[in-house]
Amino acid sequence: MSADLDQRHIVPEILDALPSDDARAVGSRRDLVWINALMLQSRIMAGLLNRHVLTPPKRILELGSGDGAFMLAVARRSAWRDVELVMVDQADLLTDARRADFAKLGWRVEPVVADLFAWLAQSGTAAFDVTCANLVLHHFSDAALRRLFASLRERTSILVATEPRRNVVGLGGSSMLRLIGVNDVTMHDAAASVRAGFAGNELTRLWPTTDGMRFEERRLGLFTHAFAAERTR
Ligand SMILES: C[S@@+](CC[C@H](N)C(=O)[O-])C[C@H]1O[C@@H](n2cnc3c(N)ncnc32)[C@H](O)[C@@H]1O
Repeated sequence: MSADLDQRHIVPEILDALPSDDARAVGSRRDLVWINALMLQSRIMAGLLNRHVLTPPKRILELGSGDGAFMLAVARRSAWRDVELVMVDQADLLTDARRADFAKLGWRVEPVVADLFAWLAQSGTAAFDVTCANLVLHHFSDAALRRLFASLRERTSILVATEPRRNVVGLGGSSMLRLIGVNDVTMHDAAASVRAGFAGNELTRLWPTTDGMRFEERRLGLFTHAFAAERTR
């Protein structure tokens, strides 16, 4: 790994600071759909869920759900029906049309507009069969992730995350995004995401305990760092 990718470097992402109706934010969220497609994120997430979640879940929590396009793509790849999906994001992005698309698949969506740490802290002991996170964990410091994982350990049977892989391939890929016409916000945030991404078993090491747990953590595809933490008892 090149020296400056040896460790995570977290800088604020521009999209997180823009009002959600800002034209650059709207453009960047549109770019995100392409980036998820290029990284094969929904296919990778669906594959992980398929392998790790053997009983159809009733309640799923999604952290940093954005406008819901990603999870809808996952739902379309899944045979699960009659699912309640709690989507937490600090931005209010879920449209009625998207909610209706979920409903057609038998997924009832409950959007929560909140900082996910604050929401988890005040949501008591609400429990979920599965928790999903796509391109969100890399926003947070190791210390914040430790706190997050300690909280999730108590309330979810399995956490599945698909994050940027921190390597030269990812950094090279992010610099090529200009070729598909992404905007300046996306160019900045994509490179920042790779530098803040993960390698090795960095996420496993942040989990509060390995007791009664099974982990999968590895590169999948060219650009994705996949993580699953599954409670076995
Ligand atoms: C790169 S986007 C990914 C969105 C979505 N998962 C997807 O794949 O399209 C990261 C998302 O995390 C959300 N986010 C970042 N920090 C957050 C926090 N502390 N609490 C809640 N949402 C957060 C942002 O608002 C943004 O929608």
